[in-house]
Amino acid sequence: MGTILRPIAASDQDFLWEMLYQAVYVPPGSPAPPREIIRQPELAHYVQDWPQPGDLGFIAAEATTGKPLGAAWLRLFSAESPGYGFVAEGIPELSVAVLPECRGQGVGTALLEGLLAAARGQYAAVSLSVSAGNPAAKLYRRLGFAVYEQTGDSLTMVLKLLDHESQC
Ligand SMILES: CC(C)(COP(=O)(O)OP(=O)(O)OC[C@H]1O[C@@H](n2cnc3c(N)ncnc32)[C@H](O)[C@@H]1OP(=O)(O)O)[C@@H](O)C(=O)NCCC(=O)NCCS
Repeated sequence: MGTILRPIAASDQDFLWEMLYQAVYVPPGSPAPPREIIRQPELAHYVQDWPQPGDLGFIAAEATTGKPLGAAWLRLFSAESPGYGFVAEGIPELSVAVLPECRGQGVGTALLEGLLAAARGQYAAVSLSVSAGNPAAKLYRRLGFAVYEQTGDSLTMVLKLLDHESQC
């Protein structure tokens, strides 16, 4: 399957909401949450009114048809209205999801590598929140994320983007 990456546009909003729903972790054996869960303010602010200043994100799409398969994006949050993986203002939080039928084929890795490469010129670090039981945590570690903090079952992970700090 040939896959391309393209920047997320305002017209991708519906797909972004779907990816936000897909990104909600459901432990094995647990029922899927109701779809309205993503309208709760603490989840909705991950995608609401895309694009906002500082937003950076990509859609992975099927090369031949353009069908969107997944998305990875960064958004800045304030200390007054933080995301689950908030570490500091100016450090954006990463979200990622791939359609269930397209997982395990490298799409998520391609999305994250593309997004992080683009983020290097813009941000000193990125953070995220992931359940300790989510296999995605292994993927984040492979990409260089390290655990910054653990609260209960929830890990906050950070990746430093060293190129940003370089003066050369
Ligand atoms: C996490 C996710 C984006 C990875 O995308 P993907 O296209 O499946 O990833 P890749 O095929 O590039 O890589 C697979 C890696 O992701 C991990 N992974 C996480 N969830 C997986 C899943 N449901 N199926 C397959 N692999 C998964 C595997 O550990 C694998 O690592 P490995 O190659 O070292 O074995 C995708 O599985 C997904 O959408 N999961 C549900 C949403 C989610 O959990 N988002 C993160 C919230 S913090």
